[in-house]
Amino acid sequence: MKQEDTDALEGGWSRSYRRRQGQLTRAQRLALRELSPRFLLDASWGVTLDLPAAFGRQGRVVLEVGFGMGENLLAQAERLPDTDIVGVEVHTPGLGSVMRALDERALPNVRVVRRDVIELLARHVPDASFDEVWIFFPEPWPREKDVHRRLMRTELLDLLARRMRPGGELRLATDVRAYAEYALEVLDAHPRFTNLSARDDGLAARPEWRPMTKYESRGVERGRPSHDLWFGLLA
Ligand SMILES: C[S@@+](CC[C@H](N)C(=O)[O-])C[C@H]1O[C@@H](n2cnc3c(N)ncnc32)[C@H](O)[C@@H]1O
Repeated sequence: MKQEDTDALEGGWSRSYRRRQGQLTRAQRLALRELSPRFLLDASWGVTLDLPAAFGRQGRVVLEVGFGMGENLLAQAERLPDTDIVGVEVHTPGLGSVMRALDERALPNVRVVRRDVIELLARHVPDASFDEVWIFFPEPWPREKDVHRRLMRTELLDLLARRMRPGGELRLATDVRAYAEYALEVLDAHPRFTNLSARDDGLAARPEWRPMTKYESRGVERGRPSHDLWFGLLA
């Protein structure tokens, strides 16, 4: 890895997630033990992912960041059989549930990895690996003192600009209007990303393929509709 790749990690970085001791169900524990060799990518110290080898083919690859319990990840794996999807998550119960579903539904086109995405991109991913990146409902960190913890930050975009393929697309959804506006500012200020939405407010239409997850529907019920962003990586 080049120095510029690991700069984001120098002196530590602000975690964008809450540490949770989420209890594993028996099925999730079993899945982690028995299905990891098939579905979990090894991102231990010094390992660089070999995605063509992991998927057994070289094609279109999407990265989903923070897939939670995997509702979108699994829906897209079924919708896009010709696309390979890498899901990165730090929350172990979600990893177990997704691996179990991949096995039950015989879905061959998903691999998951347990890492902070910043660390994953900085240390374990070759350049030009992803055609598309999805970040759906990141923790909003609404308080001023926590803004540095928001996942949408310049360091993440710098890493994505190298790990995505030119012309690649970045999609973000959030149910917090202030976060959408903040993300727009960070993305608009980045020299490598360009807004693909033609709307005056800079936001994008909700893609009809994105399923209504429990997280999103809870937001809607509480009067927080989702806001989408759609950006492209310049060549
Ligand atoms: C609010 S939840 C949303 C989950 C899911 N995307 C959904 O829409 O239901 C955000 C998720 O992102 C994960 N996450 C946050 N920061 C992350 C990071 N830096 N790397 C990987 N996962 C992260 C959290 O563990 C959590 O599961």
